[in-house]
Amino acid sequence: MDIKTQLEELKAKALGELAAGGDGASLEAWRVRYLGKKSQLTEILRSLAGLSIEERKEVGALSNTLKIELDAAFKIAEETLLARAASSADAKDTIDISLPGRPFPRGHLHPVCQALGEISSIFTAMGFQVLEGPEVEWDYYNFDMLNMPKEHPARAATDTFWLDAPPNDAGWKMLLRTHTSPMQVRTMEKNRPPIRIVVPGIVHRYEATDATHLSMFSQIEGLAVDEGISMADLKGTLHEFARRFFGTDRRVRFRCDFFPYVEPGAEMAVECGVCRGDGCRLCGGSGWIEVLGAGMVHPNVLEGVGIDSKKYSGFAFGMGIERIPLLRAGVEDIRLFYGNDLRFLRQF
Ligand code: PHE
Repeated sequence: MDIKTQLEELKAKALGELAAGGDGASLEAWRVRYLGKKSQLTEILRSLAGLSIEERKEVGALSNTLKIELDAAFKIAEETLLARAASSADAKDTIDISLPGRPFPRGHLHPVCQALGEISSIFTAMGFQVLEGPEVEWDYYNFDMLNMPKEHPARAATDTFWLDAPPNDAGWKMLLRTHTSPMQVRTMEKNRPPIRIVVPGIVHRYEATDATHLSMFSQIEGLAVDEGISMADLKGTLHEFARRFFGTDRRVRFRCDFFPYVEPGAEMAVECGVCRGDGCRLCGGSGWIEVLGAGMVHPNVLEGVGIDSKKYSGFAFGMGIERIPLLRAGVEDIRLFYGNDLRFLRQF
């Protein structure tokens, strides 16, 4: 077969294969086969050496033309392949800007945390500082220093979870705090008046759980100690809190109550939001809902931490938190707050 025919056949074969199409890998294989250093075309060009000058000129020109043609065909095939890849990627990434956005699921704070935050910020706006204290506490702070020495009957009023741990060198025993009031003592031990604090936190009581009781719940403690603080400050502050939290139209009632660490002691109730004082199932027919216990800090408590009770006085209060969103929203079973049922929690 003469060289011209060989070149003709080579051309037909190469272009035929290219026209058949393929992917990037087969295109690259084609390039190596027909345009690479070891290609048939290169071999033909090498064999030119054995030809006459006339023949060399002719075949040389022919093979150069073929090389240019194959190069051009390769470029076109390559571009076509790239364009095809780009357009299919386009189709995949196209954003339909007319589609409505997909809502991103966001959680929110638990209703009890919401209430704690809201109440804390009402008090910070009135000049109180927010503190937290330990949930595992010494009986010394939970009882002794709050005017409840050992064997004091008030210790039995709240059944306590005692920890199975040996007492410390001073004979203090470990428990789960039954209220946030120990933070009154801890704060006054380290700070001198003026003191204005609120303490949100979890407390524990060894009680059976039912629709209105939990063995673990949250409280906010409040304490203000300064020169000349009176019962009027207690009432004014707590009344203002109730107006800001429950609304200006709810009546508030103070009555006497007893806690060993305050004298006099009081309880604050807010007009029932459901019946507005007429009496209903939520307020147990009384028209009022107890919100907190409070009172003037007992002189024994002040003296216990070395604060002169002749010079300084103070008021303290403590409120249970779970009942508050319960009262606001009319929830009938307090256990729902810790049932982790999203259908319930999402409503807040
Ligand atoms: N510690 C009391 C309770 O748990 C509430 C309280 C706090 C009462 C401060 C008076 C003063 O019910």
